[in-house]
Amino acid sequence: MEKIVIEGKTKLKGEVTISGAKNAAVAILPATILINGICTIDNIPEISDIKAYCEILERIGVKINRISKNTLQIDTRNISSIEPPLEITSKFRASYYLTGALLGRCGHAIVGMPGGCKLGARPMDQHIKAFEALGATVDVEQGKIEVKAKKLQGNSIYLDIVSVGATINAMIAAVLANGTTTIENAAKEPHIVDLANFLNKMGANIIGAGTDRIRIQGVKELKKEGTYSVVPDQIEAGTFMLSAVATRGDITIKNCITKHLESITAKLIEMGAKVEDLGGDAIRVSMNKRPNKASVKTLPYPGFPTDLQPLIGVVMSLAEGTSVINESIWDSRFQYTEELIKMGAKITAQGKVAFFEGVEKLVGAPVHATDLRAGAALIVAGISAEGTTQIYNLEYIDRGYEDIEEKFRKLGAKITRVKE
Ligand code: UD1
Repeated sequence: MEKIVIEGKTKLKGEVTISGAKNAAVAILPATILINGICTIDNIPEISDIKAYCEILERIGVKINRISKNTLQIDTRNISSIEPPLEITSKFRASYYLTGALLGRCGHAIVGMPGGCKLGARPMDQHIKAFEALGATVDVEQGKIEVKAKKLQGNSIYLDIVSVGATINAMIAAVLANGTTTIENAAKEPHIVDLANFLNKMGANIIGAGTDRIRIQGVKELKKEGTYSVVPDQIEAGTFMLSAVATRGDITIKNCITKHLESITAKLIEMGAKVEDLGGDAIRVSMNKRPNKASVKTLPYPGFPTDLQPLIGVVMSLAEGTSVINESIWDSRFQYTEELIKMGAKITAQGKVAFFEGVEKLVGAPVHATDLRAGAALIVAGISAEGTTQIYNLEYIDRGYEDIEEKFRKLGAKITRVKE
């Protein structure tokens, strides 16, 4: 078993370069199935979710050539199966995009219901609604979803709730459908725009991604070759912004899109941080006092991202006064607060609301990552805390952060990974 050991407390200082976005990469990889050719994707983060995705794709006939650490050449000319291996798809959430991709390319897919971080109920009714609107039959049985259609037919899809996954799955499935599809009440996250940019570069006809109405004019086929570079990771950039504030440090975050960070920037300024847009693709965040209390409600983009909720929870744990978080996306995203309490935080979480009575300092303790972003939050808490913190369940953290220890080490953190 591995654990991360952190000796606090350290003010993080220096520069960090953000990797490609996990949530964009896990949508673009399956979307390459639509191509029936060879494409090269750059800026793919080296994380375990990507490794798992590559393994799945290879098992259904895709050839993947790793050109460098972050560049993959993907050959989807010979798809040999419409039933990806259940033992891998069940491990992570984004495997659900295989359903839309195989349905779009082959007219048939049998995919295990996805796994992933346990953040509360994660139904797929909106995905199913979208596939059915496009003319597919959908059967959910024995933990698998089977979708079938002779030829998908463009249609109007109204999502009852704003869902990132359903928006992406509908968009992927509609690319090669007959006629026009519109997705109303679509999610607007940066990775949805990135996926649309990738597909358009490959010959798709998608307009409106990034707004709540996406229109997809079906095309007969995509280009047989092309290259694309994945957008920088909004959540990783936010993680480092929040770590600068929690540790009262000074971090310049490079290779980020500052527009994607507006809700975070606004909240950090309100909490007393200095945030400078350095122009181009860099932002500098510094903090030299205890943060002010604040109130946050997580919302779909462009609201405050739920994936940064545990990270701002660390900042709030150290703020002056009582802060509050209203988690409006997931039913069960406060498990990490029990771990922060072991480090001296004063938090009361009830249902989808948590109150953070700020304390002057956190103190190191053995803690367990309860999901991916909770794991990142515990690292930041450990760096800001006095004494030694040991973090277990690293498999969550490795799912979504590339070279995380090395990046924090370069900023001055005393962080190591050890085998027990
Ligand atoms: C994606 C992100 C995840 C992030 C989340 C919200 C990826 C791989 N994961 O997850 O990191 O936390 O967006 O920003 O990109 N819902 C339904 N029915 C559905 C689909 C969703 O009720 O068919 C509900 C969910 O239970 C949740 C809400 O809609 O309450 C949002 O979920 P959704 O946006 O679909 O999240 P994911 O795509 O799973």
